[in-house]
Amino acid sequence: MGKDVIIACDFSSAEDTLNFLDKFEGKKPFVKIGMELFYAGGPEMVKTLKARGHKIFLDLKLHDIPNTVKKAMSVLAKLDVDMTNVHASGACKMMEAAVEGLRSNGSDAVLIAVTQLTSTSEEQLHEDLLVGSSMEETVAHYAANAKKSGLNGVVCSPLESPVVHANCGADFVTVTPGVRLAGDAVGDQQRVTTPAKAKELGSDYIVVGRSITAAEDPVAAYERCVAEFVD
Ligand code: C5P
Repeated sequence: MGKDVIIACDFSSAEDTLNFLDKFEGKKPFVKIGMELFYAGGPEMVKTLKARGHKIFLDLKLHDIPNTVKKAMSVLAKLDVDMTNVHASGACKMMEAAVEGLRSNGSDAVLIAVTQLTSTSEEQLHEDLLVGSSMEETVAHYAANAKKSGLNGVVCSPLESPVVHANCGADFVTVTPGVRLAGDAVGDQQRVTTPAKAKELGSDYIVVGRSITAAEDPVAAYERCVAEFVD
């Protein structure tokens, strides 16, 4: 797995997305299509960005009964994305069904599971979700479940990359949102680091949204992320 910066294209239309990506001229950054953009632009958006030469992380975080997830994944497989995901809290049978559905239609996309959202704090984990274990223990356990179920990695905070790699191996991919360039607003995220810190902690991919999309100069912000994380 190559280290890379994935830009979260959290826009509400194809037009806004393409205008944003046009700023990158010759560059073809790895991009994330999440719920907002997929609900606005649909499968066509995926096809358009693929045709423009971008690698795509389709971040739809499937979480439903195993049969539904399996069937949904077999449909998503036809979009030929590079990475996609489910929620680990759907449990092992659901994750196994996701693998089956995705692979049954020939996709070799990297399949990862969201452990705990990077917007969830330790306090919310205990008080809202009534989880008795610590954030680190919960993430490590969900990652082990994902590995046992045949997935390729997890989405977690960069702060949790070390425990995931220690428990699941260096080849088990950690894709880490919750990344901010120094001085940028944290917003709704809770477990955040800089790209440089994420590199130090061993993240395989960082997902960066607002630190790039809301920057005065998004291309310069992207290049700063690459310089800190990849180079
Ligand atoms: O703007 P920001 O950098 O906070 O964007 C982070 C992106 O990563 C968003 O698209 C969000 O949906 C996604 N994400 C996350 N935490 C997870 C999984 C995905 O923030 N655990």
